[in-house]
Amino acid sequence: MINIGLLGCGTVGGGVVKLLAKNQEIIAKKTGAEIMIKKVLERDQQKCLQIGIDHSMIVSRVEDIIDDDAIDIVVELIGGIEPAYSFITAAMNKGKHVVTANKDLIAIKGKELFDTAQANNVDFYFEASVAGGIPIIYPLKQSLAGNHIEEVIGILNGTTNYILTKMSQEGRDYNEVLYEAQALGYAESDPTADVGGLDAARKIAILSSIAFNSRVTLDDVYVEGITAITPRDIQYARELGYVVKLLAIAKEVDGKIQARVHPAFIPFNHPLAFVNDVFNAVFVRGDAVGEIMHYGRGAGEMPTASAVLGDIIEVGRNMAYHTSARIGCTCYEEKVILTISELNAQYYIRMTVTDRPGVLAGIAGVFGNNDVSIASVLQKTSRENMAELILITHTVKEKDLQDSLTVLKGMSIVGEINNVVRLEG
Ligand code: NDP
Ligand code: HSE
Repeated sequence: MINIGLLGCGTVGGGVVKLLAKNQEIIAKKTGAEIMIKKVLERDQQKCLQIGIDHSMIVSRVEDIIDDDAIDIVVELIGGIEPAYSFITAAMNKGKHVVTANKDLIAIKGKELFDTAQANNVDFYFEASVAGGIPIIYPLKQSLAGNHIEEVIGILNGTTNYILTKMSQEGRDYNEVLYEAQALGYAESDPTADVGGLDAARKIAILSSIAFNSRVTLDDVYVEGITAITPRDIQYARELGYVVKLLAIAKEVDGKIQARVHPAFIPFNHPLAFVNDVFNAVFVRGDAVGEIMHYGRGAGEMPTASAVLGDIIEVGRNMAYHTSARIGCTCYEEKVILTISELNAQYYIRMTVTDRPGVLAGIAGVFGNNDVSIASVLQKTSRENMAELILITHTVKEKDLQDSLTVLKGMSIVGEINNVVRLEG
């Protein structure tokens, strides 16, 4: 018998309780032992009672779980940095294995958590922390371990993918779709971390560390959200053969790491272009396996519980063979992390300029002086002596592009730089 101490019985915690009950027999057979929830720490007891947890199992002090020698695995599903960090650390120091879905914590304190797990020779698994139900951490650490991973590109936030999909397919306004995403329960009541790119940044920090064997924390990730994307940008992207997605990108370039989250134009035929609505996907390129893509539900009660249960079963199997900490920290290197100004990419630029002879030449001159080569130019509209210019650059250095834009913003012929979006793929 394997006993669990569950911290948090909210959306995911509740899903874990339900899934354990529903598939109890399958899980026991696959693990080689019965898995039982022994105690639950939860502020709101009603949440536990509603899903059949007996009153006697609910505790209000974490010590009741940490100090219980009969509990083998602590499953942390309260979220956030503190007290989750202290609870996990205390559990490991008591020799308990830990399973968590806490991306906020791992993206900041991954090293410390692995060090504590190693010092105590316990398992520490966190599959659900990235892309909910989609298996990606275990595949990177295990199934793809023989590869040199070259890039990992993900659509890792369901809320923003839903918003961009609806704006693109139905021509709807950002605020209207955001409101709908909240009503449907996709977006948080405070959607700042979703639309601002922070949620995806936490996830790509975790994936980068695993893919490139070198610690990447949230602070190392360049982050830009989707709030500046307008239906106009989406329409022009379509005319040019692209779709707009919020991408979380991790690449190894000449032994250095790039980790960034921002909206991007991707070609219609890119595998990630077909990932719509609230779905997530992770595209991986390895030197042996080539291109692969994992697709599915990146959030929600049961998909996320599926990933948590997979981890619990893995710990249970390890326990059955009296082994632990088999797959620990894989960050055995210290690679340089590139800044966004060192990026080489193609860019879409939409700007409003004065519509008169010589203006285009003046703008082209600024780009040329800064080593920014233009691949194509479109003049879309003309009103009150103003024109909208859509430019696509060749591959150029981000710093050179930003220097050009600084000069252009100061010129009287430039009304506004409306938007700049990177191209990918
Ligand atoms: P919820 O807010 O639904 O559940 C967390 C529960 O823990 C709440 O009931 C909360 O009570 C309780 N809780 C928080 N702090 C304490 C505490 N100190 N003592 C006792 N109880 C506490 O969150 P989710 O289930 O959505 O998320 C859990 C974790 O899973 C997070 O790390 C999240 O990032 C991650 N995750 C979630 C996904 C999802 O789809 N929801 C997907 C992937 C990962 P109260 O409400 O009173 O604060
Ligand atoms: N808020 C996240 C999303 C789900 O919209 O994808 C939890 O990671």
